[in-house]
Amino acid sequence: MSRCRIVALISGSGSNLQALLDASRSGELPADIVAVISNKAGAGGLERAARAGVPAEAIDHRAFPSREAFDQALMVAIDRHRPDLVVLAGFMRILTPGFVQHFKGRLMNIHPSLLPRYPGLNTHQRAIDAGDREAGATVHFVTEELDGGPPIVQGRVPIVPGDDAAALAARVLMTEHRLYPLAARWFAEGRLKLEDGRCLLDDHPLPVGGADLETLIQ
Ligand code: GRF
Repeated sequence: MSRCRIVALISGSGSNLQALLDASRSGELPADIVAVISNKAGAGGLERAARAGVPAEAIDHRAFPSREAFDQALMVAIDRHRPDLVVLAGFMRILTPGFVQHFKGRLMNIHPSLLPRYPGLNTHQRAIDAGDREAGATVHFVTEELDGGPPIVQGRVPIVPGDDAAALAARVLMTEHRLYPLAARWFAEGRLKLEDGRCLLDDHPLPVGGADLETLIQ
């Protein structure tokens, strides 16, 4: 494929978006972030996009009568940029099956837990409360099941005595910033595919939990 075009969806500070922008600029990610769309007008990530010279817009979900209507408008706004890949980078909205189907195989999410553990919210507190000794993050293809699509790559961090959710979140976020550019790079290089509900990297199925970041860099 010609140079990969990525549209990023955000709701917040956009530090994962920043990692992707930086990787694109440095050449580590052979792709262009062609647009950033937020469902919140005040999202810090919109400023990051502007600083990087990337077109950015907010589409407020509260202006729509239903989830379907919002997703339809979002889909149209995204398609205008002809993306090869759509990345959810801290996008805090549940997407409708129609939206997910439309972007199937080219829609990724980053989730701050070692999926399948802790889909949904408050992942860090839940991991601490469960007495887990490690936490982490997962990049996965998006399917209709919330945080349930096939994992592409996971990164692990230790949970240390005295950790609270904020301390753990900060540690996990550092791993997130390595994971997302890597998964996007694989996709941009044409090496990563979703096929029959499984992730293929270089035509080989990835393990059920996705590739393990630490193993990869050894
Ligand atoms: C990240 O922890 C991401 O995994 C989760 O929301 C957070 C977004 O952070 N879905 P940021 O906006 O990328 O800084």
